[in-house]
Amino acid sequence: MSAEFPVVVYGASGYTGRLVMEHLRDLDVPFVAAGRNREKIEAACRIVPGIENARYEICEVENTVEALTRLFAGRKVVCNTVGPFMRFGPPVVEAALQAGIHYVDTTGEQHWMIWLRDHYGRAFAKAGLALIPSTACMYGVSEIGARYCLETPGVDSLDMTEVAQAVPTVASAQTILDAVRYSAYYLQDNELVRYPGIDTCDIVTPSNRVLKASNWGGTSNPIWFARDGRVRNCKMSVAMWNQQLYKKELELERAYKVSLQWIPDDHLYPLLDSMAVAITPDTPPRERRQVHRAYDTCLGTGNNVIVKTTMVSTGGYFTTGLLQAYAARRLSVETPALTGFRSPSEVFGHRDLMGMLQSYGYAGIKVERLV
Ligand SMILES: NC(=O)c1ccc[n+]([C@@H]2O[C@H](COP(=O)([O-])OP(=O)(O)OC[C@H]3O[C@@H](n4cnc5c(N)ncnc54)[C@H](OP(=O)(O)O)[C@@H]3O)[C@@H](O)[C@H]2O)c1
Repeated sequence: MSAEFPVVVYGASGYTGRLVMEHLRDLDVPFVAAGRNREKIEAACRIVPGIENARYEICEVENTVEALTRLFAGRKVVCNTVGPFMRFGPPVVEAALQAGIHYVDTTGEQHWMIWLRDHYGRAFAKAGLALIPSTACMYGVSEIGARYCLETPGVDSLDMTEVAQAVPTVASAQTILDAVRYSAYYLQDNELVRYPGIDTCDIVTPSNRVLKASNWGGTSNPIWFARDGRVRNCKMSVAMWNQQLYKKELELERAYKVSLQWIPDDHLYPLLDSMAVAITPDTPPRERRQVHRAYDTCLGTGNNVIVKTTMVSTGGYFTTGLLQAYAARRLSVETPALTGFRSPSEVFGHRDLMGMLQSYGYAGIKVERLV
């Protein structure tokens, strides 16, 4: 029975879970729509475009290791979309390991990636399983651009920027605020260095507008490239077209340092969630590809080379849905060559991922050899 539905979409009632299911249906992959509330999952499934001929079943499951392990047994891969991941992720990854299935998630939380690497990287490698966080728009797309730069021998430093236009979902807003609790890192001279706090800078968009950017929790890329012997430096800055957001980040950081840091978790989370509601009170409408676009650039430099990649992508949540579904499709039929804690591009290949995004009209890339 489990083998008939090899992919579990955990968080199927959510905005991102729905888009993962939409793309799984399109790739003809059977799946289990799982989450904590059957009625909400049923309601979400009803509005997935094309659901009429999707092969799926629904499963209500508690967010505990025992219940999730039972659900995962005999399957191939879980697509975990239940965030903030540092809050809700630990039972899911433990259950994936116990059931012997691959794990992918949609995190953009650097602190969660570090935690996964340190607590589960070895165990997944030993079990022959892939552990692939951040298989999502942020930062799966920018990683592709960086890997195109690294095709040029001699590139050892990656200076990355992103400009995004997104309406954060409920859990995304919570996730952005949760990040205030954790340190963020960038890669400098082969060492992961901690930012002293939120780091802001000016970045220039492809249309030469100057925007204020921040380190936005550090991003996934320094963590991936700290494990790549070719790369000495990697830093990424993110700007939102909504320039109020970085100001909110700075205000929250101040509030955290002054008072919030002493509040215990069971009081702090409700407080942070009430602030998140002020950003996103309810599930936003479906993205519009004419509006919700992002630009990613990567300048790859070395002693005698400079390469630049410029990417445009549309619909960050659509893109995330496709990346998850594509990863699930590959992991449900292939034995991955690489196991343990790995990036999406390492396991699936940056050119394959780019080709998939291009085939859906979700992203374009230009690679320029400047020197
Ligand atoms: N890196 C990226 O580019 C990227 C892109 C997309 C999403 N994300 C991340 O993915 C996560 C989900 O985003 P979303 O857009 O799907 O948010 P969402 O629409 O708010 O959905 C959240 C999902 O998590 C479930 N959930 C919440 N608390 C839970 C708990 N205690 N136990 C079990 N399930 C729980 C919800 O279930 P109910 O419906 O029952 O409440 C819902 O299915 C966020 O952390 C977001 O930042 C990242």
